Amino acid sequence: MTVSAATPAWLAEDLRRIEQLLLRSASESAHPLVNEPSQHLLRAGGKRLRPALVLLTSRAGEPGARETDLAAAAIELVHLATLYHDDVIDGTQTRRGVPTAHSKWGTEIAVLAGDYLFAQACALGALAGGDVSGILARAIGKVCEGQILETGSLGDPARTVEDYLETIGLKTAALFSASCDLGAFTSGAPRAARAALVGYGESLGLAFQMIDDLLDIVGDPRVTGKAPGTDLKEGVFTAPVLIASGRDTSLTERLSTGSRDLDDVMPFLERTGALEEVFDLAAGYGRAAYDSLEGLPDEDWTAVLRATVEGVLAQVERPTAA
Ligand code: IPE
Ligand code: IPE
Ligand code: MG
Ligand code: MG
Repeated sequence: MTVSAATPAWLAEDLRRIEQLLLRSASESAHPLVNEPSQHLLRAGGKRLRPALVLLTSRAGEPGARETDLAAAAIELVHLATLYHDDVIDGTQTRRGVPTAHSKWGTEIAVLAGDYLFAQACALGALAGGDVSGILARAIGKVCEGQILETGSLGDPARTVEDYLETIGLKTAALFSASCDLGAFTSGAPRAARAALVGYGESLGLAFQMIDDLLDIVGDPRVTGKAPGTDLKEGVFTAPVLIASGRDTSLTERLSTGSRDLDDVMPFLERTGALEEVFDLAAGYGRAAYDSLEGLPDEDWTAVLRATVEGVLAQVERPTAA
């Protein structure tokens, strides 16, 4: 998925500047043992969705501020740091189509490189000034809260869809809404526009994680760059599994016995209609994201924000019950 098929030239140009800032931030050490693992995922690709959101939402105010660029790079560094740690927690071997940092350099270095990227993000936030560091710090705190809640619910068949929604709001949507907040704040956007954009980011983030959780079940690893079935294997019961388990208690029993194989669980997901239910829930959050933009001007940047919602949902074809 790209940000949008119709990426305006100015956005592509803005993103190129951010790329330079990112590479510089991950190259500042005198030691290759620090720089190499820190640059590893950055060089491997990624959608750069969060910095794109910062740049797009900065169009609600006065775009082109240095602070906006610094914030855009900082939020991607935060995202990268969470990926290093998430891959250690999930024990995954592949990310962005390349071996994960811990599978190349070991857990210790991967955790420390993640910490280093958090620190580099904070440094950019401090350079940007104002409340940029505060917005970043509060978002990082929420991601940690979400990851802790998720870890606390591993393998728990009593986890509810409400628990799940709270968790993804923290671990994922917080960074999306912070991205929009950063764009609006650093461009001096009017208060009402800033609130609308934060709402957009929150809803988009929820839709995004639900689609990511569907991709973990139905996605093509050549496209996602990640191994499918990871969530279930690690005991993370996401919305499809929770909904299917609510509709068929024999799945709940199976999960209680520690069954973690996607091939075993798949027939339940298909038979109960859980996959399309989750797709429809994600589409509902997508519509909420759309609605948040209602009071904003009809310009190319709001069109890209709308296209981004479509792009997130289009990663998965709406499943149909078997
Ligand atoms: C992955 O985010 C982590 C989740 C919140 C699911 P992305 O899918 O945006 O990852 P990259 O940046 O494109 O690799
Ligand atoms: C990611 O959730 C949340 C983070 C804060 C990194 P996932 O565990 O679903 O992300 P992927 O699928 O590994 O990218
Ligand atoms: Mg993961
Ligand atoms: Mg995932």
